[in-house]
This record gives sequence, structure tokens and C-alpha cells, in this order.
Amino acid sequence: MKPTRPFHQTPVIAIDGPTASGKGTVAALVAAQLGFHLLDSGALYRLAALASVRYGVAADDDAALAALVGDLHITFREGCAQLDGVDVSSDIRAEEIGNRASAIAVHQSVRAALVARQRAFRKEPGLVADGRDMGTVIFPDAVLKVFLTASVEARAARRYKQLIQKGFSANMDNLLRDLRERDERDSNRAAAPLKPAADAKLLDTSALSIDQAVDEVVKWYRER
Ligand code: DC
Repeated sequence: MKPTRPFHQTPVIAIDGPTASGKGTVAALVAAQLGFHLLDSGALYRLAALASVRYGVAADDDAALAALVGDLHITFREGCAQLDGVDVSSDIRAEEIGNRASAIAVHQSVRAALVARQRAFRKEPGLVADGRDMGTVIFPDAVLKVFLTASVEARAARRYKQLIQKGFSANMDNLLRDLRERDERDSNRAAAPLKPAADAKLLDTSALSIDQAVDEVVKWYRER
């Protein structure tokens, strides 16, 4: 029988960065190219945010939020995110749910309640994990850590396009304001702030196509 690698050696590529930096798209395409599993950790925070709205838990009640997150009934199947057995893939993409996810993600108790769920995605032959703290907290032993950045204007333009394509309404000025607020909150919170791991490679995607960004990450992985 072919020996399997011990759990801790299953390779992880951590892709972190601010909202709308393109990390979700890049992570999905890198995972597809390498045949790796994919963890969209933001989707977990968004599911928690949606559940908090549905169950009427306040965004500042950290104990109740942590209990809610511990009990969350969520599944990812064929690219769909389900809450309590119902497909909520498009509900969690709404901008207000993203903002609420950012607000509940400041609580250390909420983050702690999501650690094991995130690490459970690490399976052979490998994992591409995208988020804010993949390389710093969740998978500090990742074989490759990438920190994707892009100017706030480039990110707002991408988010605008994404929202319109998904049938949501969008306003550029509001998006710019929300992105700045979220960057500020995600970067300055005490618990697992958004920052590059000391050993992360920085990739500014402002002037890159998605394909160029994917090629760069795959090249780094192959060269490591
Ligand atoms: O990546 P995203 O926009 O889907 O994430 C939504 C929010 O969830 C983000 O503003 C902050 C939070 N988040 C986090 O704190 N840590 C992660 N690993 C992923 C997301």
C-alpha cells in the first residue's frame, strides 16, 4: 500500500489578503490546476454572519456568537454553501453580510470556534486556503504563503463588477468607503489582524490579469 504522508505534511498554500484583492478567484484556479482542495475561509465567517442575522444574535455579543458558531450546521457541496441544509451561496455574497462577517470576526471567541473547522479542510493531495490569517494562524506551516494586494480603487472596481454580475445593486462611492472601513477593521483588530506572515511572498495584482496572478503562484509553488 502506498504510504500516505503524515497529516502535518499535507501541503497547504495559504493565500491571504484584503477584501476584493482577487484571492478567492486566484485560490480557486490554483487549486483546480494542482488538483488541490479549496478552503474559502471568508465563506465560513459569512455563513456565521448570516446565521447571526437569522437567529437574531447581536454582532457584539461574543459569547452568544461563539456558541452559535460552535453549533453551525454548514456544508460545502459542489461549490455551494449550505446553512441548515439550504443553499445560501448567493445570500452570503451580499455586501452587508460581508460587512457583518468583518464585524463578528473581531471576536477572538468567534475565531477560536472556527479553527478546527478550517483545519479539517487539510486533506491529500493538498489544500489551497484563502483568507486573512491562513499563513499566520491557521496554517503557520504552509509550504507557500502568498499575500495578495491591490489598490483600493482596483479592488472597488472588481467588487463593483462582481456584485452587478451577481444581480446585486452597487454604488462605487459606497464600495470605496466600505472597503476602506473593512481594511481598517480587519487590519487593526487585536485577534489575528490582516497582515502578511513574515515568510509570505507579496503579490500586487492591481495591474495583473487573473491568469498572470495564478501563474505566478503556481510557479512559486513548483519552485519552492
Ligand atoms: O474574504 P471575505 O471578504 O469573504 O471575508 C469576509 C470577512 O470575514 C472579512 O472582512 C473578515 C473576515 N475573515 C476573517 O476575519 N478571517 C478570515 N480568514 C477570512 C475572513
